[in-house]
Amino acid sequence: MLNRYVVPDMPSADELLPYLRRIDANRWYSNFGPLVAEFENRLTAHLTSLDTIKNAGPISLISVTSCYHALQAGLQSMHLPHAARVLLPSVTFPACPLAVRHAGAEPVLADVDGETWQLTPAIARKIVASTEIHAVMPVAVYGVPVPADEWDAFVEETGIPVIIDAAAALEAQSIPRRCLVAHSLHATKPFSIGEGGVLISRNRAFIEEARRITNFGTQMRITVQDGSNSKMSEYQAAVALAQFDRWEGLKKKRTSLFSRMRASLTGSGLAFQFQKNAERAIASTMMLKTAYSATVIADALNADGLFGHRMYLPPLYHHPHFAGLTIANGDGRLSKGDETPGQKDAMMPSAAMMQQSLFGIPFHLFLEERDIAHLISRLKLAVEKAAPHPARSMQAR
Ligand SMILES: Cc1ncc(COP(=O)(O)O)c(C=O)c1O
Repeated sequence: MLNRYVVPDMPSADELLPYLRRIDANRWYSNFGPLVAEFENRLTAHLTSLDTIKNAGPISLISVTSCYHALQAGLQSMHLPHAARVLLPSVTFPACPLAVRHAGAEPVLADVDGETWQLTPAIARKIVASTEIHAVMPVAVYGVPVPADEWDAFVEETGIPVIIDAAAALEAQSIPRRCLVAHSLHATKPFSIGEGGVLISRNRAFIEEARRITNFGTQMRITVQDGSNSKMSEYQAAVALAQFDRWEGLKKKRTSLFSRMRASLTGSGLAFQFQKNAERAIASTMMLKTAYSATVIADALNADGLFGHRMYLPPLYHHPHFAGLTIANGDGRLSKGDETPGQKDAMMPSAAMMQQSLFGIPFHLFLEERDIAHLISRLKLAVEKAAPHPARSMQAR
């Protein structure tokens, strides 16, 4: 179980069966069916019952086929000008810049904060002060929520719309008054249904428009705007409802596993650091910051048959497909377009730090105490490989 970095915890066939039988009885299989409606109502009621944002309007949402589609539909419903620039962090999943491009806009990759590993409103403010940005997409990276109140203040102050990619932070991310929120229900996320997503807003009209966009831009079968097809089917909703029945238990197990692993790692003397506010996530992954080379440690784990990984790394500006995108650092300085990869890293110190220092270890609900003990003993060996050897460095002098 240490040779996979994630093992989804999905409803069993028996747990699914009552919902599948309802599909048999309804003979409704595709979009806008009764199970989809039930899932959306149940999720809305659940998020409303946990809502702590004061004087905010009611929560509205739609279910979609993926978080990527939630991001794309959300951006499309903002009606940005042609070739608009959308600011997003350079350390995130490729879905973010792809959704921006497919919504007809141009991604701009920002540096992140060195402690939260996120694009913060402070960084975004510096960038929008020196260049025209039409929308911002902060990311709740590794499932740690972004500050809803601070992003609301950003929207109020700048007038720039915000869509939060909270892919792995369903429920952990509170729903701001003024920002859109997108979640993923992919098998690797805490609330996993296989493939699926959700788009949430306090603005009902916005959500109604996004729903049209996910259904070919149609209203009563007549096309009124551009759109795609990204509606959830009854089969996906069946899994989502069955997963809802298990959610309270799943949450407890994830939170407990994360704190047990964190305590064992902290007690191991390996001096790893964690993401700031990591305890606010309903954990679906475990990333560690090391003083040594993260690549050497991850490679040593893999050579040992344990799954070491580099989720969201390298930064997107090192992916060939995104290498031509404009990058913007925490002081608001923009790239000119002729920088080498090394010059980009020098310009983006926190993203470069993440590339140098962050690696992930297996994290899933099928790990047992003896797996955790074994993992830590092998991590010690992997860190020894990465640490500069005192005798070797003496000889070099
Ligand atoms: C930060 C982030 N955004 C977006 C996505 C895309 O989610 P989906 O697979 O539901 O489209 C992911 C998936 O891993 C993600 O991690």
